[in-house]
Amino acid sequence: MSRRSQDENFDTEIDVLRTRIKDSDDRAVQEAVFDKRTLMDLYSLASKGVIDALGGSVCTGKEANIFKAIVGERELALKIYRISTSNFNAMQDYMHGDPRFGNVRGTKSAIVSAWTKKEFRNLSRAEEAGVRVPHPIAMRGNILVMDLVGKEGQPAPMLKDVELNNDEAKRVFDKLVEYISVLYNRAGLVHADLSEFNILYDDGEPVIIDMGQSVTLDHPLVRKFLERDIVNLTHFFRKKYAIGSEEEIWARLRSDKEKADQEKADRHKGTD
Ligand SMILES: Nc1ncnc2c1ncn2[C@@H]1O[C@H](COP(=O)(O)OP(=O)(O)OP(=O)(O)O)[C@@H](O)[C@H]1O
Ligand SMILES: [Mg+2]
Repeated sequence: MSRRSQDENFDTEIDVLRTRIKDSDDRAVQEAVFDKRTLMDLYSLASKGVIDALGGSVCTGKEANIFKAIVGERELALKIYRISTSNFNAMQDYMHGDPRFGNVRGTKSAIVSAWTKKEFRNLSRAEEAGVRVPHPIAMRGNILVMDLVGKEGQPAPMLKDVELNNDEAKRVFDKLVEYISVLYNRAGLVHADLSEFNILYDDGEPVIIDMGQSVTLDHPLVRKFLERDIVNLTHFFRKKYAIGSEEEIWARLRSDKEKADQEKADRHKGTD
């Protein structure tokens, strides 16, 4: 096929994909999200069979748009970072000090792509350690593909929008305390934007989302981020349900760390 007809072919395919992008807010938003490069990456994900079709919009966040998608019977969520409106300086600040991404330089799209990869890896690490997050499936360019949290195409609500009874609230708080500790002690991560906005409530269980900014323990501000996460979470539970304290989260972090250190020491002894 000649270069020209290849291009024409590609443009037609992109148009087909574009018409499948139903109900995605207004035109301006569509244009900010679906620039040519993003459409190409979407097309590539479709041709590899990672997604079959794109569905409606779930949410327009500060830096990314979330869409539904499907592959076979499986419901997916696509997080598409908008290259045009991303906060590059902040992104670089969060990547700086992370040995995985410390030296990302270059074009805006390279930075956003590194950021997308960072979120993908953070979700994978969190999941492996035992924290419930949306299962990450693939990433390409500025697009992160993950499982949709929710049922029958209906995304689960944010923690801030549900009304729990006392028992449920206590159970959810305890689970989140466990997750903060598992993230820190087992995954070596701090979420760094933990709040009732970035926790979904699905089937009685909290699910942590939005981990692009999460940092490894090498980050110079890791302590500050951990403190802020703990303050935010406790503030929400105290105000709405009159439960929870910062002290109990710190205590849990410490006792889990001691246990982990002890296990490590025992393993070393065993191999001496
Ligand atoms: N995997 C998912 N399943 C279901 N809903 C999701 C999923 N990921 C994100 N959402 C929904 O989309 C919203 C925005 O996602 P996220 O917080 O990751 O993006 P963001 O751009 O950082 O948004 P914001 O700037 O509002 O924090 C979430 O609050 C949630 O309601
Ligand atoms: Mg968010």
